[in-house]
Amino acid sequence: MQPDSFIRNTWYVAGRAGDFGAQLTPLTLLGEAVVFFRRPDGSLAALEDACPHRKLPLSMGRLEGDRVVCGYHGLTFDGSGTCVAAPTQEGAVPKRARVASYPVVERYGLVWIWMGAQGAADPGLILDIPEYDNPGWGKTALGALPIDCHYLWIADNLLDPSHVAWVHVTSFAGAGTDNQPLEITEEGERLVVWRWIHDRPAPPYYAPLLGWRGNSDRKQHYECRLPGIAINMSVYAPAGSGGQGHDIPPGAFINISYNFLTPVDQDRSLYFWFQHRNSRPEDAEMSERMFAGATMAFNEDKAVLEAVHRGMKAPRNPALNLGLDAGALRFRRMVERRIAAEG
Ligand code: FES
Ligand SMILES: [Fe+2]
Repeated sequence: MQPDSFIRNTWYVAGRAGDFGAQLTPLTLLGEAVVFFRRPDGSLAALEDACPHRKLPLSMGRLEGDRVVCGYHGLTFDGSGTCVAAPTQEGAVPKRARVASYPVVERYGLVWIWMGAQGAADPGLILDIPEYDNPGWGKTALGALPIDCHYLWIADNLLDPSHVAWVHVTSFAGAGTDNQPLEITEEGERLVVWRWIHDRPAPPYYAPLLGWRGNSDRKQHYECRLPGIAINMSVYAPAGSGGQGHDIPPGAFINISYNFLTPVDQDRSLYFWFQHRNSRPEDAEMSERMFAGATMAFNEDKAVLEAVHRGMKAPRNPALNLGLDAGALRFRRMVERRIAAEG
């Protein structure tokens, strides 16, 4: 069920812009050791974190301006991975002395890294967030949560509108989240599990955010795109005005949770997210409340997913699938097809 490799020709989120500065910051991504640093001009570099001489992590050396000096014998590399000094070699740089460098792009306050084929890193492939610069939309802060599980367990969770009824009792749960039928839409490299739930009270997380009292029509739109971007949209409209199908009625409250999953290795993942809403953009107190509520809920997921990972890694007998897994299983096949196509 879990592919043993990762999609490579894609952009992954390595962290938030503020997580990186003028110091050597090591991370493991897709099973590879990478070291990040900011040059004096503020631009970011990402290099293979292993000196070509004795494979000491370059992150154990020191940063001198825009160069990394190995902490064992001083081989020195610039941000492109080129060896620019070899003090023990009387200044002559050995031909094979270079390290891989990875393209990085900063967008939406996030740092995106390309760990695939050299020369194929097109920033145009980074997710488009349509209303990101729309001043009518409000945002929460960016959240970051390491989770000790394979990243596809998180993708499964983010394609599963049912779990909220049991995992998020005090936040996202609500009448109908346990048993209303789910629809699945697959288009290219995106998969959506969705449903409308009509004429029910809004759950605790959303009720204070809505501009009306009484029941709501609620749409849960749980979308995943390759490699591991989950777009979870919640739509609320006064009962009776909600849509069928994919229609969103005018005047609806929309909150989109953008979630970015990055494999550390087969057993660990990084999870970054923010929430984006179509109302009260200047309301900082609302942004903070939404951030705190979502952080609490995502920690509930973390506890479940880390235990699921341990349970599914060495099950005593085969695991059962339920109807609610249909979307997640299709997304896993999409991932497997892409990995096979990358060869
Ligand atoms: S291990 Fe880096 S220079 Fe020797
Ligand atoms: Fe959840």
